[in-house]
Amino acid sequence: MTNLECTRCGATHSPATLINLCTCGGILYPRYDLAGLRGKYDRNEVKDGPATLWRYRRVLPVRDEANVISLGEGFTPIFPARRRGPFQPYTDLFIKDEGPNPTASFKARGMSSAISMAKELGAREVALPSAGNAGSAAAAYAAAAGLTAYVFMPDDTPTLIVSECIAYGARVYLVKGLINVCGKLAAAGAKARGWFDLSTLKEPYRVEGKKTMGYEVAEQLGWELPDWIFYPTGGGTGLVGMWKAFAEMEALGWIGRKRPRMVAIQAIGCQPIVKAFAEGRSDSVLHENAHTVASGLRVPKALGDYLILQVLRESRGLAIAVTDEELLRAQREIAETQGILPCPEGGATWAALQKLVAEGPVKPTERIVLFNTGSGLKYPELLPREAPVLDPNDPKALDTVA
Ligand SMILES: Cc1ncc(COP(=O)(O)O)c(C=O)c1O
Ligand SMILES: [Zn+2]
Repeated sequence: MTNLECTRCGATHSPATLINLCTCGGILYPRYDLAGLRGKYDRNEVKDGPATLWRYRRVLPVRDEANVISLGEGFTPIFPARRRGPFQPYTDLFIKDEGPNPTASFKARGMSSAISMAKELGAREVALPSAGNAGSAAAAYAAAAGLTAYVFMPDDTPTLIVSECIAYGARVYLVKGLINVCGKLAAAGAKARGWFDLSTLKEPYRVEGKKTMGYEVAEQLGWELPDWIFYPTGGGTGLVGMWKAFAEMEALGWIGRKRPRMVAIQAIGCQPIVKAFAEGRSDSVLHENAHTVASGLRVPKALGDYLILQVLRESRGLAIAVTDEELLRAQREIAETQGILPCPEGGATWAALQKLVAEGPVKPTERIVLFNTGSGLKYPELLPREAPVLDPNDPKALDTVA
């Protein structure tokens, strides 16, 4: 890593101390000496690395190996979709399954890199607002690093995720408000108490862990990117991170110029990016009274909205919203036909794909990657529980089994 570069004004900053945003308020991206690495960092070299995101070590931050906090995150499986039921017409569809990550979501990726950097640069206490999964990932990685994590979450965050954060020893606070309100508390606490603010894209390193999803898609598909990537978008860190990864890989000589068209999926009840994209805006307007059962998508205004919208336009991508009913139905369809129980956010990508195929812009024969960003097991409230009860002493018990 050579420096941090502002994505708004282009100013550069030293990566030697922990900082959040640029003085102009812009988001900072770590930059690497890619020209210097070109020809010296062979893409085949990554095969010899660990089966984690740290296989891309030379394009990740952290100077001293001893500071890398890894729990086995990344290098998750990518499955060709089984052509069963509604998946029948899709001849080249893949599901990148982030469920097997530590703490059962892709948030582990960003926290592995961010907590490693926080440790390397001397933080003792970190704080963040979270819709849920980022909180539990931060709690786990902070525990592994020996740091204290303060987690602020909406008071209706899925119960299991709250319990998970508490179990990892985080200081957990439930807030009457959405993630943006939680963010204000975390920021005020950081200022008053000296915690390092780990809010997504408000610090430079979570995006580095998340970008590895882009490296992995390339590696796992034989170094050729797909035609489409479908990504459930809240804060958008994964989406912009993958776009950054594609540029880095091209600079390294690992891939050519081909890019996927990126699709941001949101919920009807919280779709600031979809609206901004449709209106041709370069940033988004706060979505009032945001609501959806897909709690990871309940981000009424993303700090990185301008970056997300840039990526959607540069990639000739799309932004689409689906209803809670559609995303929950899609979640069940994936489970029943693929044997993968996705999170509701992952379900949303499949609902969106079916809509876009019906509407025309996407063909079911194109190469498409859906991101299932986490495990459905983290949201037991949304899963079916009704099952008939049998009395083992009733000789006719089996007669009722259909
Ligand atoms: C399971 C899940 N999917 C998707 C998202 C949205 O991710 P991003 O903030 O990278 O857009 C979240 C965020 O909380 C999430 O928990
Ligand atoms: Zn700036």
